[in-house]
Amino acid sequence: MTDRFCVALSGDFKRADGTLTYPDFDLAPLRVARGVEMAFIDSVSPIRADQLKDFDALILLSHRFAPESVPKGGCLGLVARFGVGYDTVDVDACTKAGIALVITPDGVRRPVAVSIITLMLALTGKLLTKDRLTREAAAGFARRSDHMGVGLVGRTLASLGIGNIGAELFRLAKPFDMKFIAHDPYADRSVAAELGIDLVSLADAFRRADILSVSVPLSPATHHLVNAERLALMKPTAYLINTARGPIVDQKELTRALQEHRIAGAGLDVLEEEPPDPTDPILKLDNVILAPHALCWTDQCFAGNGAADVKAVLDFQHGRVPTGVVNCAVLESEAWKRRLAENRRRFAE
Ligand SMILES: NC(=O)c1ccc[n+]([C@@H]2O[C@H](COP(=O)([O-])OP(=O)(O)OC[C@H]3O[C@@H](n4cnc5c(N)ncnc54)[C@H](O)[C@@H]3O)[C@@H](O)[C@H]2O)c1
Repeated sequence: MTDRFCVALSGDFKRADGTLTYPDFDLAPLRVARGVEMAFIDSVSPIRADQLKDFDALILLSHRFAPESVPKGGCLGLVARFGVGYDTVDVDACTKAGIALVITPDGVRRPVAVSIITLMLALTGKLLTKDRLTREAAAGFARRSDHMGVGLVGRTLASLGIGNIGAELFRLAKPFDMKFIAHDPYADRSVAAELGIDLVSLADAFRRADILSVSVPLSPATHHLVNAERLALMKPTAYLINTARGPIVDQKELTRALQEHRIAGAGLDVLEEEPPDPTDPILKLDNVILAPHALCWTDQCFAGNGAADVKAVLDFQHGRVPTGVVNCAVLESEAWKRRLAENRRRFAE
């Protein structure tokens, strides 16, 4: 056992020319931390076990962490994903090997909630339409009264899901004086009460919303949660916003609803197929605002994800359970408890 604590960064944190992929990810706290040595491993996906055999922790961008990535008999005890999606990580393999997987809800909460507000304001304010009118000069100005926006006071903001991001949306939307409703079968009722959100049935969320935002995880239960039948419940003046995952919305049915003006419009940061097929009809519609699964990508979002991962790594180094653990069962495993106790002995101040 050495007094070095070795942290690997997946190779995709560096570009081919050796510069950092995301310079807003501040690595200084790791560089100066007592006992910590960090290294970028070669850019390989899935990551190979031999690349990780000397490391205590891995900070992982987009590369896959598969069963064959687990170093046999190694000291790896933490995989810290940069972001909240972890479909690239074999969670069972981590749990079996006593490796905790953490994600960074603190990093994305505000940036994604801001992107929902951005889409809500752009849709109801007809921002893109008015941008196009202006570029047509006099001809566009002449048509501006045909494109009234929609005021928000007293209108109903609905969210499917009031977890990390859904709840933050309502926190940010407070000054707009809207009515708040949400559907979330597992909602923390104290959060709903504190934010003045009425919890309603799924059908009521679709029926009553003027703006309906989707903030649920993608799972077999939420695949095509927004389908033809439920879209048909929406008001013709209502807007749908999806910043969660594309397949939660049946995109063919949404496209049809938008083409037939059965709803007023949609704001989508995520699509069923990413990147989309260039012939996808949704790309031709002018009542939809699209973003390439990157509307929340800001300097602060990337700095926040990085800071959360660094904190998780340093917590683990000092024998503390990090926040944001996905595979909570690992916390009961002997392998994890042993690693944590060893780290506490080696590094606790
Ligand atoms: N666009 C982006 O770049 C981006 C970035 C981060 C997260 N996301 C996505 O945003 C979504 C929300 O993330 P989060 O951090 O708030 O997750 P979270 O787990 O904190 O919250 C999700 C909420 O959805 C609820 N829920 C689960 N099943 C439901 C159902 N069938 N109906 C209604 N509610 C249900 C849960 O009870 C929970 O409260 C996820 O899909 C995530 O992948 C997107």
